[in-house]
Amino acid sequence: MADTDGTTEAKEFHTDIPQTSEAFFLKGSNSLDWGMKNRLGRIFNPESGRTVMLAIDHGYFMGSTTGLERIDVNILPLEPYADTLMLTRGILRSIVPARTQKSIVLRVTGGTSILKELSNESLAVDIEDAVRLNVSAMAVQVFVGGEYERETITNMTRMVDMGTRYGIPTMAVTAVGKDMVRDAKYFRLATRICAELGSHYIKTYYVPKDFETVTAACPVPIVIAGGKKQPVPDALNMAYRAVQEGAAGVDMGRNIFQDDAPIAMIQAVRAVVHEDLAPDKAFEMYNDLAGQTA
Ligand code: 5RP
Repeated sequence: MADTDGTTEAKEFHTDIPQTSEAFFLKGSNSLDWGMKNRLGRIFNPESGRTVMLAIDHGYFMGSTTGLERIDVNILPLEPYADTLMLTRGILRSIVPARTQKSIVLRVTGGTSILKELSNESLAVDIEDAVRLNVSAMAVQVFVGGEYERETITNMTRMVDMGTRYGIPTMAVTAVGKDMVRDAKYFRLATRICAELGSHYIKTYYVPKDFETVTAACPVPIVIAGGKKQPVPDALNMAYRAVQEGAAGVDMGRNIFQDDAPIAMIQAVRAVVHEDLAPDKAFEMYNDLAGQTA
């Protein structure tokens, strides 16, 4: 029998305590719907406001590039140390165990290879498949200034519209053509266009000069790609400077998975991103951890 007394006579209404309404912790994201916020909160750590995304999607246009030849062997051991895995649906379905508790950012554009014009991309995943895969965000390549600028921007706006229907955020990836200048002026332009047109957060590249103007002018969170493999101290220094200058974390691939000690490297990157560990200390940490596994 239903306990009607219990519900009508309950005492703890706390009539003197106004209901609180918590502001969402991520820059520019407070007006998003609950599902969007919840998904973003699985990518970005609510404590630090930052993320370590492990980018392993390179195969979608590069094939089995160095370090990603065997994702089951080389990459799965890194999964416990990442906040998020950024990858294609092919790798997700074929290799990543469905028991993972890590958030997934799904690469949803493609259609080109390193043998041809890279900016000629299309949407390569239906929104229904992103829903089916329970992803936390979708990643769309945008080539501002590239040959297929308009098409790639339109790919992004279409994904934002479709993702909004289902509460799935879109991360714009600002890709730079081979002959284009990578400076703060360019990244201010590219990131702002993506944000103005609805991207929920943006991956871009770190530039040593005026990067803080890129993050300041972008109304939503920015994460940085790692780019080509660099010496460990340089990569840690770049990650440190990026977060100190306003980035909300990294979406790093080659500087982790092409390292000789990738598990040590991802842990050092985590300490820089989430704990503001200075790069020299993070390098010591890296050496200690790398020494333990050598
Ligand atoms: C490929 C990508 C990569 O995910 C991105 O470049 C990050 O990887 P890396 O740190 O190796 O640059 O978007 O197009």
